[in-house]
Amino acid sequence: MNVPARHTRITGTGSFLPPRRVSNDELVAELAARGIESSDAWIVERTGIRARHFAADGVAASDLALPAAQAALAAAGRRADEIDLVVVATSTPDMIFPSTAAILQAKLGIAGCPAFDLQAVCSGFVYALTVADSMIRTGSATRALVVGSEVFSRILDFDDRGTCVLFGDGAGAVVLEASDEPGILATDLHADGRHVGILCVPGAVAGGKVLGDALVRMDGQAVFKLAVGVLEQSARAVLAKAGRSEADLDWLIPHQANIRIMQGTARKLKLPADKLVVTVDEHGNTSAASIPLALDAAVRSGRVQRGDTVLLEGVGGGFTWGAVLLDY
Ligand code: UT7
Repeated sequence: MNVPARHTRITGTGSFLPPRRVSNDELVAELAARGIESSDAWIVERTGIRARHFAADGVAASDLALPAAQAALAAAGRRADEIDLVVVATSTPDMIFPSTAAILQAKLGIAGCPAFDLQAVCSGFVYALTVADSMIRTGSATRALVVGSEVFSRILDFDDRGTCVLFGDGAGAVVLEASDEPGILATDLHADGRHVGILCVPGAVAGGKVLGDALVRMDGQAVFKLAVGVLEQSARAVLAKAGRSEADLDWLIPHQANIRIMQGTARKLKLPADKLVVTVDEHGNTSAASIPLALDAAVRSGRVQRGDTVLLEGVGGGFTWGAVLLDY
């Protein structure tokens, strides 16, 4: 018997940014009030970031995830009760437990389907998409909601100018469905725990107290060097797995951490600058949310069209990295 292959396709995208937009000048003024020196010129030149959004006090990752998920469902023409898997990639969950995915599931008014968080820091979305793709292809799910949502402003040290200017808050979501047509063509995930210390929030919780340091710590140059190398490797690996080449790519949507890393990857793949989707200028680095936020912006602006070949790439703490190649 010839059983048709089961593929997965993204059928809808959505995103949400908290309303407070903080320009570099506004942030630099806030830092100056704390005696920390920075400038719009430094931030733009080193990172490409011009602004980020910060969530109001009391707003949690699930609060940002909800409107992003609802927008993705509307774009897919699906009701929440048609979803049978919820995966949320986040490093800034609402609670230690239960998962932000379970909280989001309840806010969506659905119950019963599996819901869990996935922790791979800034690679979280490509990890979550890969897991959902595998679960759908093996028949464990049919219609998944895959979300990246972060309130990174909660874990920033505003006395550390080397990190606090980089990150922002936001959420992005996709609906991923079983399909006779591909969809996701290939995935490629990696981690190297030897590099835990170069990008981490080293604190822990015990006895009702935070133990140690619960703010983002980063060796920016070490992260930069590793990121440039692994992003090229993962791009080539995922293209090879799918039997495609760089010339087949319509869009590169990398994790939005630093414009220099993103442009470096595009150059290595010989992609023209206009095939690189850039939102880091307006969003900053939103960790697990950055790729679905950028994908949704590119879809809604009409740049990414049905049938386009899109390369998503993530890299971040762990050290983790990976890529997903898909026909949109
Ligand atoms: O999701 C993955 C997350 N992380 C990343 O992708 C980050 C990767 N790394 C980077 O993007 C870059 O390393 C940074 C943007 C973080 C830093 O850029 P850099 O070119 O590596 O600068 P640097 O760390 O070598 O610092 C150069 C100078 C230092 O001053 P001195 O020692 O030369 O006097 C820093 O203290 O820039 C100073 N500096 C700043 N100056 C003004 C660091 N942060 C700031 C700031 N404003 N915000």
